[in-house]
Amino acid sequence: MDIVATLENLVREMEERLARADTLEELEVLRADVLGRKGRLARIISRLPGLPPEDRPVAGQAANRIKERCAALFGERRSALLASREAEALAGFDPTLPGRAPWRGSLHPVTLIADEICEIFTAMGFEVVSGPEVENDHYNFEALNMPPEHPARDMQDTLYITEKVLMRTHTSPVQVRTMATRAAPLAVIAPGKVYRRDSDLTHTPMFHQIEGLMVDNGITMAHLRGTLTALVRAVFGSRTRVRFRPSFFPFTEPSAEVDISCCLCGGKGHHRGEPCRVCKETGWVEILGCGMVDPAVFSAVNYPDNVSGFAFGLGVERVAMLKYGIGDLRMFFENDVRFLRQFA
Ligand code: DAH
Repeated sequence: MDIVATLENLVREMEERLARADTLEELEVLRADVLGRKGRLARIISRLPGLPPEDRPVAGQAANRIKERCAALFGERRSALLASREAEALAGFDPTLPGRAPWRGSLHPVTLIADEICEIFTAMGFEVVSGPEVENDHYNFEALNMPPEHPARDMQDTLYITEKVLMRTHTSPVQVRTMATRAAPLAVIAPGKVYRRDSDLTHTPMFHQIEGLMVDNGITMAHLRGTLTALVRAVFGSRTRVRFRPSFFPFTEPSAEVDISCCLCGGKGHHRGEPCRVCKETGWVEILGCGMVDPAVFSAVNYPDNVSGFAFGLGVERVAMLKYGIGDLRMFFENDVRFLRQFA
């Protein structure tokens, strides 16, 4: 029966052409040609009704068988082509390599230390307050017992905006702003940026400070000492020793600077047989300035005579350098991710 022979020829021909089709596009052309709605198989099938009735069942079965066979052959070839296309795309890659994990962001070390210190103080009952970075001469100097001709103003190189408006050189003006709007008793800390006309290995034009102030009846230097000792031990460890050295600030009387035993050498002055580079062999490093609020500051904010208080100011970068053993202040501002990622 020639229709069955034609069908079988079609399969054979198709097998050959399939073997030569080596893109999915060629395969699709071939499929449409053979199996499409107006394709060759459809045309052969359309001839079936014209056959003598006794031949139709055999021819019909043959047509169905060939149709299934063709579809299966296309399917196989298609899978093979897809597989080789994928293999090509992967050539040169090692698919067993582990994927690249997404980068996890991290807080800046200055933020970490500032947050840590704020938490320590809030746990002791202090409240976090803030003030403007662009400040008036009055709050930055005058009310802090530094009148215009006061020599202490030379201690700080100020970035002026106008004669009376400046970038705050310390966080101490927040003390004044707080007392000017609130009555005692109060216990506040004020973290923030400060600005000075200074730029070298150990100074940057902007850095961070945290100011502290506690005012009440009967506050003494013992409260100051206890509070700061608690701070230092919480940040640097319970074995850290603390020493108060007499100093001078116009806004405190008496004033002191606080040293802690060196975190690198533990206060011995030498580290791994070398002179300690952090404390310069002294065993101590300075971390902050403090004192009892000067009566002149209280009178600038019209506080009553019967209160007393302590204040302190510390440099956040300095604490971070000591705590993490960072030797170069500029690291904080270059924002090299290799540096920053260590704090994740
Ligand atoms: N304001 C000082 C500075 O920037 C730091 C300071 C010292 C703040 C003593 C204080 C203090 O509140 O009592 O260097």
